[in-house]
Amino acid sequence: MAGQLVIDGEPGQFTAECHIRAYHHEGANVVIAGISEDRGRALDAELGDRALFVRLDVTDEDSWGAAIEATEERFGPLSVLVNNAGVQNPAAPVESTHRRVWDRILDTNLTGTFLGIKAAVPSLRRNGGGVIVNIASTSGMGGTAFYAPYVAGKWAVRGLTKTAALELGRDGIRVNAIHPGVVATPFITEPAVGSAVPISDFYTPEPFAIPRLGEPSDVTRALLFLSSDEASFATGSEFVIAEACFSVPPSSTRPPDGARRRTGAARHWTGPGPLLARHRTRATEAPSSYPSPAMPACK
Ligand SMILES: NC(=O)c1ccc[n+]([C@@H]2O[C@H](COP(=O)([O-])OP(=O)(O)OC[C@H]3O[C@@H](n4cnc5c(N)ncnc54)[C@H](O)[C@@H]3O)[C@@H](O)[C@H]2O)c1
Repeated sequence: MAGQLVIDGEPGQFTAECHIRAYHHEGANVVIAGISEDRGRALDAELGDRALFVRLDVTDEDSWGAAIEATEERFGPLSVLVNNAGVQNPAAPVESTHRRVWDRILDTNLTGTFLGIKAAVPSLRRNGGGVIVNIASTSGMGGTAFYAPYVAGKWAVRGLTKTAALELGRDGIRVNAIHPGVVATPFITEPAVGSAVPISDFYTPEPFAIPRLGEPSDVTRALLFLSSDEASFATGSEFVIAEACFSVPPSSTRPPDGARRRTGAARHWTGPGPLLARHRTRATEAPSSYPSPAMPACK
């Protein structure tokens, strides 16, 4: 892989770091763009000349402009943009969801993706084409009770992806979305801002076709494929990397405590099983490396 990547999301966190290491391993220059300076600079220092950390708040248009400018200054025009940053809302029914929460989630997950595309396109054009990959979610393919802001934002990212793909295809810019299922990262093992309960407390993969949690590297492999010429005829597409969890929304079977009292919808919940307990332990360990022993290097 030649060229460079901007990936937004706090480096040092699991999927972002796995993606960054993978692209770097494949020979790309990587721009680590996120809001955690300490972690970003540490990863930048570790990866050496082909890495650059830039501070990026995806909700801030000027911050995007500065990130793309720094990328061009160091490595030349952009060839790949991964819109990875995302936040989740504390679980709550629609009628109890505060407007501030709604705005915060949509600002990051939807507006952040829009601003990233907007900032990157001129640079991708200067490059003669390139790739944008938006990280959406299987929550953007169905309903997930108590996650209206998150679900609505991820659905909207699908529409944005398809529209940008139509507009940019003739410029040689492909735009695709990846829809991960539940992946073992702090995103699900730590409570969201404003919540005391992580998603992993009321999710189990056991009923689904692939009864395990996703690993960051599951998403990374799809990203590498979409960023490469192997995917040269794929644009506006949706790549589901999941255990078929969107077929039966599991979190609708057990709302958070407050909501459960109101809706009485908890009767199907049997509690997290041993698979989840195992993955929760793993999710607190070191980030997935790339290539992992179980994951052949993409040469
Ligand atoms: N983990 C899952 O189960 C799962 C499932 C489907 C989709 N996703 C999506 O995958 C993406 C990555 O999530 P993850 O699992 O690595 O979770 P994570 O919480 O580890 O990573 C999300 C990252 O976004 C960053 N971020 C938040 N606000 C930001 C901002 N304003 N500017 C820049 N960065 C910001 C955070 O610092 C964090 O590093 C997200 O878009 C998420 O919605 C995750």
